Amino acid sequence: MWSSKLGFILAASGSAVGLGNIWGFPTQVASHGGAAFLLVYLVCVVVVGFPAMIAEITIGRRTNRNPVGAFKALSDNQFKYSLIGILGVICASMILAFYTVVAGWTVSYVFAELFHFLGLAHWEHYVANTQHGFINALFSIIFMGATVLIIVGGVTDGIERATKFMMPLLFMILLGLIGYVLFQPSAGIGLKKYLIPDFSKINVSLIFSAMGQAFFSLSLGVGGMITYGSYLSKNENIPEATAYVVLINTLIAFLAGLLILPAMYIAQAQGVTIFGPNGQLLERISLIFKVLPQLFHQLGGVTGFILGIVFFFLLSIAALTSTISLLEVPVSYAIDEHHLPRKKAAILVGMGILVISLIISFDISLIGLFVKIFNNIGLPLGGFLICMFLGYYWKTKNAITEMEAGYPGIRQSVFSKVWPFFIKVITPLAILYNLLNALGFISYLKNIFT
Ligand code: TRP
Repeated sequence: MWSSKLGFILAASGSAVGLGNIWGFPTQVASHGGAAFLLVYLVCVVVVGFPAMIAEITIGRRTNRNPVGAFKALSDNQFKYSLIGILGVICASMILAFYTVVAGWTVSYVFAELFHFLGLAHWEHYVANTQHGFINALFSIIFMGATVLIIVGGVTDGIERATKFMMPLLFMILLGLIGYVLFQPSAGIGLKKYLIPDFSKINVSLIFSAMGQAFFSLSLGVGGMITYGSYLSKNENIPEATAYVVLINTLIAFLAGLLILPAMYIAQAQGVTIFGPNGQLLERISLIFKVLPQLFHQLGGVTGFILGIVFFFLLSIAALTSTISLLEVPVSYAIDEHHLPRKKAAILVGMGILVISLIISFDISLIGLFVKIFNNIGLPLGGFLICMFLGYYWKTKNAITEMEAGYPGIRQSVFSKVWPFFIKVITPLAILYNLLNALGFISYLKNIFT
């Protein structure tokens, strides 16, 4: 169990804050029309993410189980409901497979910055190459190894302690870099793009990506928050704790955009090619790995060196607290449902997923495919089923009773009137729209009626 409310909030934020915030979010903003994306993203966080996270955490705390066991426990062992958990276990594993490769880059760039400072240009270019299969594989192995080690060692102490000082440090370094960036010429173009919405940019594909991003960034849809909720003590206030997690996660993503959007234009002014002839982003997957080193090198000297190293190091830690939560989903399943000892489960599952990471290492275009299947379809599908299960099978009144333990006045609150309506109607409908869209139904219908 988490040692305190703060412990839970930090651990859950540690899961949420990761590559999704600093690598995914700014890239999505840049490729989907700037501020318009930010705006729709915020709506998705409030309408879909916040209610769905409360649902997952409440299911976890009620059952004290891994995602598969949780649905079994709430449905008298009915196999069809445990499928929701199984879907989550599969999606978490597949997301972890590509996440590990990108997380490996954050470590390799710590070395790249070091080599740059030492003037070892050859080594720098060797390590800072996101296309290099062998380098990708090497750093994926290192990253998966670290993740497995922490999971084996029992997580609560490790995750809690690490996030307690890493998160504030990451926050401060982001602020510092933003301060620097905003005073650079050509930062203004990026800032305008990021903050002044062009509503004509809002279309189906933007809404679709914004909701996917909200799910991914908040670690929803695979039962990750069910697992973390299962370690939460009964006297904590779930809606309040969730609100903190959502706020922290949104703030970090917002700050990452405030850093990277301007930095893109600064890097471009320095001769780094970022946009193609039609203004489209050239390399989405490796965008921040092109833009940020440029910034650190422009800063130069010891300051640039220290900021570069510390930034990529913190990003590695942020990614690590996320890979831990991803691996914990299949591992807790293997421990509870297949009675493996923790150590064996972590090593076996970790190695299995690493095999897929190694394949991706040698062809990083696979990342796009994985994102399409597991992030864009798997997560919303999982989130939809979780909402439907809670709303129509387990029933929101039972969830409210579970929350009452740490929130005595809940029955008189506005929350207890609004949240059930969201979980039963608004949130699943919003997700359903997205899912139908992902499967091509919306354009199919459009063709029929026009
Ligand atoms: N939220 C993390 C990020 O933004 C990634 C992550 C961790 C995740 N656990 C998850 C995504 C569970 C989906 C499901 O980087």
